[in-house]
Amino acid sequence: MFSKKLLVFLSLITFVVSAPVDEIVKRQSIDTSSHCGQWDTVTAGPYSLLLDQWGASGATSGSDCASLTSMSGTTLAWKNTWKWVGGNGVKSFTNIQLNNGLNKQLSAIKTIPTTWKWSQSSTGTVVADVAYDLFTSTTSGGSNVNEIMIWLANFNAGPISAVYDSDGTPKPVASNISLGGQTWNLFKGSNGSNEVFSFLPANGGSITNFSADLNTFLKYLTANQGVSTSQFLKTAQGGTEATSGSATLTT
Ligand SMILES: *[C@@H]1O[C@H](CO)[C@@H](O)[C@H](O)[C@H]1NC(C)=O
Ligand SMILES: *[C@@H]1O[C@H](CO)[C@@H](O)[C@H](O)[C@H]1NC(C)=O
Ligand SMILES: *[C@@H]1O[C@H](CO)[C@@H](O)[C@H](O)[C@H]1NC(C)=O
Repeated sequence: MFSKKLLVFLSLITFVVSAPVDEIVKRQSIDTSSHCGQWDTVTAGPYSLLLDQWGASGATSGSDCASLTSMSGTTLAWKNTWKWVGGNGVKSFTNIQLNNGLNKQLSAIKTIPTTWKWSQSSTGTVVADVAYDLFTSTTSGGSNVNEIMIWLANFNAGPISAVYDSDGTPKPVASNISLGGQTWNLFKGSNGSNEVFSFLPANGGSITNFSADLNTFLKYLTANQGVSTSQFLKTAQGGTEATSGSATLTT
């Protein structure tokens, strides 16, 4: 049997865009040192670990460090420890970015298989999410038009929404959508730059063992929410948007 600890450290994130998984599964040599710089990046195979502390100046204090743990085939294990105090907005989006197979029109994408197993330990109240973040553009490599978020967890945070209930909670544009083996509520709103579509677990819980084809989410949006199939998938990332508190995310 697996020990609990082993499962945590065997956790993984993999995405492949429109490409067969034909990698020879072997352990690869990667930079496993800890990185804490605002824009530090570590590249490993088709992925980059991005520190992306874009909102750090909004914090009164804090830190955010991440490291890759291991890589085997297209399976990457990584870890992020962060602590942010002060300010209301997101401080960091520490994430794994896929670098291959992008800048394809949505109509040309066949599949984006992904598996993500993770756990989080935290102290006190944490405001954060654990989510995939995809961006599309009108031309190849053009500026972002749509942002598609698939939240696996919502820790006291909330999606961008154009519509709110009278009690101030964001109102979904669609509820109880079955995709990728889970049930979601979809929120929509602009953040000033992009039209942001956010899929959140309908039951409010955390999905710590996720395996799905992310293309089914894109297909849902092109079929039901007016996203054009001629849009190009520009960016595909998965990570944690951290606003405040103190946590370690282990994938
Ligand atoms: C979604 O499903 C839940 C549980 O079955 C139900 O309570 C809720 O009313 C549904 N929401 C909508 C908007 O259909
Ligand atoms: C909002 O817009 C910016 C561009 O200024 C984008 O990079 C960011 O991811 C968006 N934020 C959220 C939370 O959707
Ligand atoms: C994750 O889910 C898959 C099925 O989707 C299952 O085979 C596997 O045992 C699960 N792993 C953990 C750690 O729960």
